[in-house]
Amino acid sequence: MSTDLTVIVLAAGGGTRMKSKTMKVLHQIAGRSMIGHVLHAASALEPARIVAVVGNQREQVSAHVAELVPGIVLAVQETQDGTGHAVRMAWEALPADQRSGTVLIAYGDMPMLEGESLRAFVEFHRAGTDAISILTGIVADPHGYGRIVRGDDGGVEAIVEQKDASEEQAAIAEINSGILAFDADFLDGVLPRLGNQNAAGEYYLTDTVSLARGDGRTVGAFVLEDVMQTEGVNDRAQLATLAAEMNRRILDRWMRSGVTIIDPSSTWIDADVKLEPDVTILPGVQLLGTTVVAEDAVVGPDSTLRDVEIGAGAKVVRTHGELAVIGAGANVGPFSYLRPGTELGAGGKIGAFVETKNAQIGDGAKVPHLSYVGDATIGEGANIGAGTIFANYDGVKKHRTTIGAHAKTASNNTFVAPVTVGDGAATGAGSVIRRDIPPGTLAVTSGPQRHYDEWAQAKRPGTDQAKAAEAAMGAEGAEVRPDAGTPTPDVGDAATSE
Ligand code: UD1
Ligand code: CA
Repeated sequence: MSTDLTVIVLAAGGGTRMKSKTMKVLHQIAGRSMIGHVLHAASALEPARIVAVVGNQREQVSAHVAELVPGIVLAVQETQDGTGHAVRMAWEALPADQRSGTVLIAYGDMPMLEGESLRAFVEFHRAGTDAISILTGIVADPHGYGRIVRGDDGGVEAIVEQKDASEEQAAIAEINSGILAFDADFLDGVLPRLGNQNAAGEYYLTDTVSLARGDGRTVGAFVLEDVMQTEGVNDRAQLATLAAEMNRRILDRWMRSGVTIIDPSSTWIDADVKLEPDVTILPGVQLLGTTVVAEDAVVGPDSTLRDVEIGAGAKVVRTHGELAVIGAGANVGPFSYLRPGTELGAGGKIGAFVETKNAQIGDGAKVPHLSYVGDATIGEGANIGAGTIFANYDGVKKHRTTIGAHAKTASNNTFVAPVTVGDGAATGAGSVIRRDIPPGTLAVTSGPQRHYDEWAQAKRPGTDQAKAAEAAMGAEGAEVRPDAGTPTPDVGDAATSE
């Protein structure tokens, strides 16, 4: 297909009906900008070159398209004087020796267009002798589109724009999608001949059709059955309609390739997500960006994952995650928050109400409950007790905590980074760990437990609390000891002395 094919993508228009500070073609559908979808479809043809015509917000649009298609040719249209003028700007941006072969025109706001349709269209054009081919659609409501006017022999005579259409022409249901294919030689000669004597005062690319007919050349029309692909976006209502349709198509494709999707109506999957067969998606799931899910993994319900890699057989329940890696057979959730840089090893666990960030958690290691793990390395097989905080921030800088392999840390610990817990080490409940713990060592930092006998009766007399204590002690009516509520000697053990 590549042989001397030039694709010109028009993206200079303002898109005022979007009522947005973001350029229309940069608005996203299924995780890609609209122009990103068009460039994706165009790239499937492996054209010799792609030219983008930019105008409004050209810095943002240029930077975006150049990132998507390195080597893209940028043509600037200073004023938006019409589609014919825009193509002329693109044409003049090309050196003379590249103005040959077939030229395909596309718009940056037609996100549904597929590479296969473009390929079939270019093949249609190349198979015939027409100077121009038009990708057309038969639509229920043709208002706003250019209408395809055919002669008695069925051949295309002209495209008439909405503003210039007679009542009879306005009733024509076959419309110009905007996608046109030209023989370069014809395009080269016809562009300077376009005028702007029309209702809009613009240089219409569509006027090339009547000019070709006047030259005795023929114009072909290729009717695309799937009219959705010819839909452009003008406002945000159309954006949502096309986004829903694209999502429906993406889900359909994955289900046909072996993915179970329990509730397609509440599942959103971006265009660049990859899923293996036998993945199961439960209701309320959004898989975004470049998320990848391996076979037998179960995701959901109610999870939003962006750029997350999920290993085979892993389970991810009610989780919000971004730029994270979840190992094979690992368990995540419910109610987990995986921030960028989280890497959970095979068979590991990040449990309920756990937030992780920039944390490597080894194979089989577990952080099961109510914890914050930031800037940490946790060795394989280690277990982090409930309610543990990795205190990574000293108010100025972030520091790392390292937990050794098979270490068992107790509930409600704080690791004050930078700190290292050795392999096989342990901690006591409620410890605040500020010093490194050697391998195999138990560290306990909480103070010894002290008792204040009959404290409730002495200090809270007459309350339900005191009454409950009295009842339990079987001392109804008993006098409170004069020394009640004062501490008894410390009850410690070897492990608590520090
Ligand atoms: C155009 C077609 C119409 C077709 C319709 C399909 C013309 C004259 N009309 O009408 O036959 O049915 O698309 O959607 O071609 N653009 C520029 N520079 C300009 C003007 C437009 O880059 O000076 C770009 C826009 O950014 C947009 C595309 O060209 O991507 C189409 O322009 P738009 O003004 O939307 O054309 P329509 O009036 O919809
Ligand atoms: Ca339009």
